[in-house]
Amino acid sequence: MSLCKQMTTGLLLCSAIFAGCDSGQDANPSAGAAAETVQGATGDISVWPELKPALSVDPELEARIDALLGRMSIEEKVGQLIQAEIKYVTPEDVKKFHLGSVLNGGGTYPNNDKFATPQDWLALSEAFFAASMDTSDGGVAIPIIWGSDAVHGHNNIIGATLFPHNIGLGAARDPELIRRIGEATAREVAVTGVDWTFAPTIAVVRDDRWGRTYESYSEDPEVVRAYAAEMVEGLQGEKQDEDFLRGENLVATAKHFVGDGGTERGIDRGDNHVPEKELAEVHAAGYLSALPAGVQTVMASFNSWNGDRLHGHQYLLTDVLKERLGFDGFVVGDWNGHRFVPGCTVESCAAAINAGLDMFMVPSDWKALYNNTLAQAKSGEIRPERLEDAVRRILRVKIRAGLFEHERPLAGKDGILGNDEHRALAREAVRKSLVLLKNSDNLLPLKPQQKVLVAGDGADNLSKQSGGWTISWQGTGNSAEDFPGATSIFAGIQAAVADGGGQAVLSEDGSFATDTFADGGAPDVAIVVFGEEPYAEWHGDLASIEYQLGSKKDLALLQKLRAQGVPVVSVFLSGRPLWVNKEMNASDGFVAAWLPGSEGAGVADVLFTDADGEVRYEFTGQLPFSWPQYVHQTVLNPYHTDYEPLFALGYGLGNGEESLVSNALPEDGETYADGKLEDAWLMVSRPRAPWQLEIAESERPAVAVSGNRASSGDDGNITVAAIDMESQEDARQIQWKGLRAGSVQLAAESPQDLSRYLNENAALTLDIRVDQKPGQRVSAQIACGADCVAELPLQPSLQQLPPGEWSRLSIDLQCFVEQGADFSKVSNALSLNSAGALSLAVANIKYVPGAAESADIQCRG
Ligand code: BGC
Ligand code: BGC
Repeated sequence: MSLCKQMTTGLLLCSAIFAGCDSGQDANPSAGAAAETVQGATGDISVWPELKPALSVDPELEARIDALLGRMSIEEKVGQLIQAEIKYVTPEDVKKFHLGSVLNGGGTYPNNDKFATPQDWLALSEAFFAASMDTSDGGVAIPIIWGSDAVHGHNNIIGATLFPHNIGLGAARDPELIRRIGEATAREVAVTGVDWTFAPTIAVVRDDRWGRTYESYSEDPEVVRAYAAEMVEGLQGEKQDEDFLRGENLVATAKHFVGDGGTERGIDRGDNHVPEKELAEVHAAGYLSALPAGVQTVMASFNSWNGDRLHGHQYLLTDVLKERLGFDGFVVGDWNGHRFVPGCTVESCAAAINAGLDMFMVPSDWKALYNNTLAQAKSGEIRPERLEDAVRRILRVKIRAGLFEHERPLAGKDGILGNDEHRALAREAVRKSLVLLKNSDNLLPLKPQQKVLVAGDGADNLSKQSGGWTISWQGTGNSAEDFPGATSIFAGIQAAVADGGGQAVLSEDGSFATDTFADGGAPDVAIVVFGEEPYAEWHGDLASIEYQLGSKKDLALLQKLRAQGVPVVSVFLSGRPLWVNKEMNASDGFVAAWLPGSEGAGVADVLFTDADGEVRYEFTGQLPFSWPQYVHQTVLNPYHTDYEPLFALGYGLGNGEESLVSNALPEDGETYADGKLEDAWLMVSRPRAPWQLEIAESERPAVAVSGNRASSGDDGNITVAAIDMESQEDARQIQWKGLRAGSVQLAAESPQDLSRYLNENAALTLDIRVDQKPGQRVSAQIACGADCVAELPLQPSLQQLPPGEWSRLSIDLQCFVEQGADFSKVSNALSLNSAGALSLAVANIKYVPGAAESADIQCRG
């Protein structure tokens, strides 16, 4: 087989280990080979290197564990396996059930108070600790361990330093910087009495549609390998150090083991089909450095490998991770992740423990899981030696981390959280993360003496520049006040320009007048900051990597400025590379800025020279991910034989380097991959741009459903609420009281041309659950402008569906054409209208090419 094309970047990757090298853009380069080499849930252990445990056996420590185990009751042992969430567990519970751990999930704070202070955090942590050490019931004192997702700084607490998300750090190609970020993060976390961070994520991402792409350092396993050990050592200290895991250090987590970044189509929590060699050499690259560095915990992944869920994967968790790779710490589960193991529920999963999971992350249902696990331990369904081993591992980490001694030198200290030193470090990271992709006529760096118009909805938007996992889980719902001490990108530009004697003016929509600038006239240059809205996990999964599919608002802004003769520098905020050919064509300079975090001033540091025209900081960032030239390049890695990126992995212009990208990049955003039109996602977990969920009743203004609940009118005639189908908030419950007829619809601001779906025999498909059957007329509608509505009766189908159960319903799009739909200008991609009372839930609304033929509702002869 021929290997890869010559790369422009000099970065490795093209080696024979990639069995899929020849198969082009396939997300699953070698599923065929996988079937031959891997049978069921075992594999070929020889593809994994044999690693020695990071720390040699310490007989004294093991004897201490023996002594504890000897005194612990089976109830106490089972308690150690349980990690509950602080919203659902109290110190009293910890005492009573001898729980081993608590966590705070993304967007959970002590006392449910977003503005909880470091002292509040510490107080709760101390209360949990005291409860765990309380032996008044005759039990054994085992300190609890509190874990939190400090994934870009201590991001759940107001006022912390927010470092760029991992993807930006990947662009910096600076392992030593990563170590310093780890150290600073550990200090900020230690202030709040949290012992453990669920970081770093060391996924190696293949398909950029994955909503967690930004949590990955790079698609290049070598970058991930180089960074993993540095981050682990930054957080934990070095294993030979006296204060390893103690003092200013924390316990770290390598996550998510393993193959999280290689799921098919980039679907979060999906299935990874790569051959075992690729699993070991690509997806596990980071573990091969994190484990020797002494990482103490590993988080099992939600995903499966060849159909087998990692949480129940004895071969990978035990034979590979614990034996072959010498891991002697403990494996923590992910958020209810055990429930996906065959035969398991959230409340019961002996199989996971037997397979090698040591601690369940079970946020709310911990009591039932505790009871069932206890029964299974007593009956022997959980093997006794497995229970002993799991508890031994947890105790080992707790002893190593000094939790029994409970010395917390930084706890409650002022002057650490969000301090100047940490913010300066974050600003340095921002500078190093910027990747210059286009620089026509060497427009950048800019002189600060100019009149600078700063536009775009990301310019003065701390929430947008910080992305997901920021104060809240999704990174949404935050305003400027939630970021004390932070600097927006605009604020940084304003300061740099003021220093240089110029003037920077913020104008989000790019408008300006003759008096916008002090000395009149048009701006000399515009900086437009735009990009993705925050998201986390599967909420960020994409169907297409086209930026602003459909709406193209930012493109219009760039073009408007250009048309007025203003040179435009685009600063693109995103959690991944996206197809932006049109925006690139409309820009003179284009900078990929990823998700820089709280220190937006790092952007101006590089965009502007000093007052004397001297460069302050060069552009040094290099692409951590290949940048697509075509919309179908969702899996784009240098080992593909037909690797044709717009910018290769490692690309990044330096100052003064000639910009070679064409000003006329192909603008046909065709969505065909391997000749196949991709599904159009209208609402998958959340409504997908340009579609927006609305409640519409005639004669009343439409109500946008932006949060997780909305109602129409004072009487709440129609209510839409986010509910769980398979995962959190992936479905919507819709309730019609029947006071007036009305609709819930997926509407776009401007009409969308979806005729290619009609041409490709697509069907509208959705998951639906009828909770209260309709008494009156119900219809599905597609609108093509104000006077163009195609309406299909839906009531007969709803009557037939089994009530209270999820079913999949599909309708041939042609049926709507016959009712007058014009798919070249769709304004509502689906509208559900009911005249009377009705209650139903919907999820996964898509147009699926080729599905017309087998659709439930058909209209062709
Ligand atoms: C939590 C997150 C968690 C997610 C998973 C959220 O409510 O805050 O930490 O990752 O649920 O379902
Ligand atoms: C995520 C993990 C995270 C955990 C706790 C899960 O949903 O997958 O990465 O550590 O929640 O918030």
